[in-house]
Amino acid sequence: MAAVLLLLLLSLPSISLSLTDADALLLLKSSFQNPEPSLSSWFTGSPNSSSPCALPRWTGVLCFNGIITGLRLGHLNLTGTINIQALTHFPSIRSISFVNNSLSGPIPDFSRLDALKSLYLSHNRFSGPIPLNLFSTLDHLKKLWINDNDFSGPVPFSLSKAKSLLELHIEDNGFSGEMPDLKLPLLQSFNASNNELSGPVPVSLVRFGGSAFEGNERLCGPPMPGPACPVPTPAPAPVPKEEIIAPAPKVMPKLRPFVSGGVNRGHFVGIVVGLVLVLVLLAIGFAAVKRRRKFSDLESAGGRKAAAFDMEKGAVTVVAAASPGHDGNEHGSSGHKRYGLARGSAGGGGGSSGAVLVMVNSQREAFGLPDLMKSAAEVLGNGTLGSAYKAIMAGGHAVAVKRMRELSRLNKELFDGEMRRFGRLNHPNVLTPLAYHFRKEEKLIVYDYVPKGSLLYILHGDRGADHAALDWPTRLKIVLGIARGMAYLHAELVSYEVPHGNLKTANVLLSPTFDPLIADYGLIALVNPDVAPTVLFSFKSPEAQHLRHVSPKSDVFCFGVVLLEILTGKFPSQYLNNTKGGTDVVQWTASAISDHREAELIDPVITAKAAPTMEMVRLLRVGAACTQVSPDERPEMKEVAELVEEITAAVAGGSAEAGGSGREEAAGSVGTDGSLQAGSSS
Ligand SMILES: *[C@@H]1O[C@H](CO)[C@@H](O)[C@H](O)[C@H]1NC(C)=O
Ligand SMILES: *[C@@H]1O[C@H](CO)[C@@H](O)[C@H](O)[C@H]1NC(C)=O
Ligand SMILES: *[C@@H]1O[C@H](CO)[C@@H](O)[C@H](O)[C@H]1NC(C)=O
Ligand SMILES: *[C@@H]1O[C@H](CO)[C@@H](O)[C@H](O)[C@H]1NC(C)=O
Repeated sequence: MAAVLLLLLLSLPSISLSLTDADALLLLKSSFQNPEPSLSSWFTGSPNSSSPCALPRWTGVLCFNGIITGLRLGHLNLTGTINIQALTHFPSIRSISFVNNSLSGPIPDFSRLDALKSLYLSHNRFSGPIPLNLFSTLDHLKKLWINDNDFSGPVPFSLSKAKSLLELHIEDNGFSGEMPDLKLPLLQSFNASNNELSGPVPVSLVRFGGSAFEGNERLCGPPMPGPACPVPTPAPAPVPKEEIIAPAPKVMPKLRPFVSGGVNRGHFVGIVVGLVLVLVLLAIGFAAVKRRRKFSDLESAGGRKAAAFDMEKGAVTVVAAASPGHDGNEHGSSGHKRYGLARGSAGGGGGSSGAVLVMVNSQREAFGLPDLMKSAAEVLGNGTLGSAYKAIMAGGHAVAVKRMRELSRLNKELFDGEMRRFGRLNHPNVLTPLAYHFRKEEKLIVYDYVPKGSLLYILHGDRGADHAALDWPTRLKIVLGIARGMAYLHAELVSYEVPHGNLKTANVLLSPTFDPLIADYGLIALVNPDVAPTVLFSFKSPEAQHLRHVSPKSDVFCFGVVLLEILTGKFPSQYLNNTKGGTDVVQWTASAISDHREAELIDPVITAKAAPTMEMVRLLRVGAACTQVSPDERPEMKEVAELVEEITAAVAGGSAEAGGSGREEAAGSVGTDGSLQAGSSS
């Protein structure tokens, strides 16, 4: 009766698909044996204590703009262990201190908190060997104090990967074997005294002098006062090198029990064992899973630039993509089936129960909620409209599950109608949902997962290889794809007050070939009207700001912001709720055009590889035309797509002819005074 069980599960108010910050801290608190009274402020019982960052702030919690950035939990006489699953809920946490408590057990697996800058565990009772690769991902770590514990085994060589280390304190433990040659150029403060280290002091650490190594009787050679090291021929070799470098199978099993019964990447196996177990596993699994670096769990998109990216990437990366099979779709409206519980359950037939996953994309393989529940899951982040999870199902199919907030405008039948309409959309630049789950208090939407994530993140985030790939041809291709997808949406969703309503680079995902996929459209019909102005970007258009009115032209405005963002590489201040931070790309472009210095606006990343061209300037002017204050002066989405098509054709023709200035008049839409003539009425 697994079905009945799941039905029960789904009728509960919360599946605990996502943990709030408060939940995660309470999970951490529950791993301490004596958290009271020192952590009595960690409590969600009263309305003003339910958010850790709200005042009065929870003890020891460091926040910045509502994001938890650190935990300072020293000197609290805490005993027990550290629930690392709970801590991984805060992947962007920067500092953690538990100094001078009585915490015990093996060192928690901090390797997943790869934004960590300082970690203080001094004066506790942590013991056992440290996993040899623990530090290989912690390249932001500056301060590591683990002195005065009971650690044993080798000093991990992976410390040499923590290239930012300034302070490393491992004294007063039981570390043994040779001290690895760490080669940390920035290291300023180091102490390895009172351990059981042996052999020569590595050259890279001699500079710290004998007092950094005292109390290790078997160390030899400079700077130790004792005899020189024995010549290595007969080598009493205290610990063979391999033992330092080899992975430590002895270490990992010891760590396992601590990792909550091996629940690692959220494998839920006990779905039929019992409701309680399922709930617990869900809670742990979703909290445990590794998240991408720098995702944070903002509840709103306020404030800082970086925070906004993090949030946005989480919120949308999520939703994703044209994966194999997508392209071949046809407009098929037949055969929408309900899968999941209703099929087998006693009351099933009519499928009127909410406990189902309704497939809306008839071209795709069906899966049920049980499949989803059994899959490995990864929290991708939270945004203004919901939280998102990546789930890999049994067959390896990766999906993104968005748990939507603020979508209670429609009843089930109307919601179903909207989702089916979206499910029939078929365009290479539009992300089509696969399935949904609807209950009054829970709405999940399932999409394919797109691995590259959001354009917002690739433009402004880590500046990795994907960012480097954003040269002029690639950016033009992205702009063109978005324009095509938007024109399609404007044709298909023509009856909507604003067809997309939430276009921004956070809602544009990139396929492996950098083809854009537009997500999060059509929400105007679903979202609660009172929150729409705060959660939908189209309400940032001038007409919405001044007249509280949105129209398809509001989408055109949003497209213009996106275009300018892509061309300038600047983070638009329009994305922020306050006026601090970002660049007002609209104003900046308008004034540059009137001064005839458009070329200066082009992202230097583009112009480093390609001198500014007429087509770049023309594209910039399309962006300017789209962001005109008056909606009537903006072109229609269809016209915008045509303009971008023409520019693309000019670029293609130009590169073929190695010159191509003759194409300029062909488009004929850019006036010499810098304004776009087409569609302009003033
Ligand atoms: C909650 O806030 C109110 C007013 O801000 C205050 O009077 C009350 O003491 C607070 N309650 C707790 C438990 O802190
Ligand atoms: C360690 O914490 C205890 C409280 O648990 C406190 O009394 C003591 O002073 C602290 N020691 C140091 C060195 O900070
Ligand atoms: C620390 O906690 C232990 C019990 O967990 C208690 O016996 C001891 O008195 C506490 N010490 C301080 C300084 O609070
Ligand atoms: C290293 O730590 C030991 C013991 O805590 C101390 O005696 C010694 O002075 C320290 N040396 C340095 C260089 O910090």
